[in-house]
Amino acid sequence: MKVFINKIIPEIGFKLLDEVGIAYTVWKEKPILDRGQAIQFCKGHDAFISVGQAGLDADFFKECNHLKVVALHSVGFDGVDIKAATENGVPVGNTPNVLNKATAETALLLMLTVARKALYLHNKIKKGEWGASQPTQDLGFDLAGKTLGIVGLGRIGTELAKIVTQSWGMKILYHNRSTNDEAEKELGAKKVSMDELLVQSDVVSVHTALTPETKGMFGMEQFKKMKPTAIFINTARGGVHKEDELTEALRQRIIWGAGLDVTNPEPMSKDNPLLEMENAVVFPHIGSATKETRDEMSRCAVENVIAGLKGDPLPYPVNP
Ligand code: DGY
Repeated sequence: MKVFINKIIPEIGFKLLDEVGIAYTVWKEKPILDRGQAIQFCKGHDAFISVGQAGLDADFFKECNHLKVVALHSVGFDGVDIKAATENGVPVGNTPNVLNKATAETALLLMLTVARKALYLHNKIKKGEWGASQPTQDLGFDLAGKTLGIVGLGRIGTELAKIVTQSWGMKILYHNRSTNDEAEKELGAKKVSMDELLVQSDVVSVHTALTPETKGMFGMEQFKKMKPTAIFINTARGGVHKEDELTEALRQRIIWGAGLDVTNPEPMSKDNPLLEMENAVVFPHIGSATKETRDEMSRCAVENVIAGLKGDPLPYPVNP
């Protein structure tokens, strides 16, 4: 039994594979594999650990229906045709829960960086502009005591809500299809309509999956409903906001600022105007990029592979 891995995953994953005697081929080169090459490699293997979801469409699953498991090295699976995987008898697994804290911390980092204009001020120093600043200059705003609106109060959103309510006394509004009883009881979170969330929040943070319903959910219409002093944060998927409309909203100061860990497309072009704007902060999709979290993701992916190769149910399944 052999597994193909399309990028270098943390060592813990290779150790687990060695322990159970599963052989592997790892693509270590740059540039990353194109779709055709990935299919060719998969044809010679029984399982696939996929870092990233590009190309896992209906054709891929038809071509690679011999695979006993596709183990995603991510929690998100919006780029994977799960229906086609199921129809072709390929179990798909992901890495849920283990990245909740790291992603919530990334949202927090973006919130603080934007609220305190940290990146803009850092760049001012680099340009030699650390002059005699006045007490009225370069002011940010406190997050403590403010209202955080969470769109998608699932596992990651709840983790963020815990940190900001316990440490900063922030109030939580949320917009979800379902009610999060636990967050309501323990964190005082209040479920509201999308409009109410937009109007009342000082920070709006997106934690929803990318689905046909959430695609392009944030555009000028939504930004105009937000306070002019509010911050928009997205650590979920870039497709949830309309990037050109966000850029325009920031340019016109319709909202105070935005912090993005996800863009559309990824990677973002170095010429993107958001990178030059003083009220925007962009990270290169680092939500899960901590040593501890990536180790755990690697472990989950390999556990899915081990189960799939034995024909057992996956511990972290995605197919219904
Ligand atoms: C995920 O796991 O889906 C995160 O976005 C990191 O890629």
